[in-house]
Amino acid sequence: MSAQELARIIKDKTGGKPVDMGLVLGSGLSGLIDTITNASIIGYVDLEGFPNAGVSGHNPSLVIGEIEEVKVAVLGGRAHYYEHGNADAMRLPLETLKALGAKSVCFTNSAGSLHLDMPPGSQMLITDHINLSGTNPLIGQEGDERFVNMVDAYNPNLCDLARAGAMEIGQKLFEGVYSWYSGPSFETPAEIRMAQTLGIDAVGMSTVPEVILARYLGLKVIGFSNITNLGAGMAAHGPSHGETKDEAAKASHSFEALIRSFLRQL
Ligand code: HPA
Repeated sequence: MSAQELARIIKDKTGGKPVDMGLVLGSGLSGLIDTITNASIIGYVDLEGFPNAGVSGHNPSLVIGEIEEVKVAVLGGRAHYYEHGNADAMRLPLETLKALGAKSVCFTNSAGSLHLDMPPGSQMLITDHINLSGTNPLIGQEGDERFVNMVDAYNPNLCDLARAGAMEIGQKLFEGVYSWYSGPSFETPAEIRMAQTLGIDAVGMSTVPEVILARYLGLKVIGFSNITNLGAGMAAHGPSHGETKDEAAKASHSFEALIRSFLRQL
């Protein structure tokens, strides 16, 4: 089914609710869904072609409503490259957000920190990324639009609003470069040391392909990482999915406050 057809179905179900911004929630961050007012919830199962988002900690539904008076369409779960090897698995959901009227997308994720002084529980504004996966969601795409400009991919004006929001609530907001390793295995300590040498601040298994697709579609982008662990080899124990889920849940209140403070600035 095309994004236009899906958007028509969604508009029928929601009574034509307008959408200004898309929000993609990372693992353990689906608590934000409970803060949506005037919410219409549609399971991905009812949206043909949407991923089944089978990673624990993700909530596979699309919720349309308002947060801080911003008209949002929230994707409660995402598909990861490591689930099937499709780097463009989030293409249809992102096209659908655009077809619903979204002009921008806010991406969130859980990530490992490469700095001892950006410990678990920290939040990081993503100002740029490095694609270490060796693939790209636009491979095979035809047309000159595939040569997407990635300068200022993380929209500087939206980043300023995030800084203002964090200041308003007195919350520390780190900033840095996020890097995509494909996963699903965590990195080796040597890979983490390499990433540190390259000037990377946080590592994760998502977001980068989605940001490339969103820029291809002409959507403005902002991204936040919820730091759940130190990179492999930096702590006494190695990272684990259980730890990332637990830490994401622990930080969910401050993460949600941060996102809401950003949305208030729009
Ligand atoms: N590495 C990759 N992905 C992650 C990590 C990590 O340390 N933490 C949360 N997601």
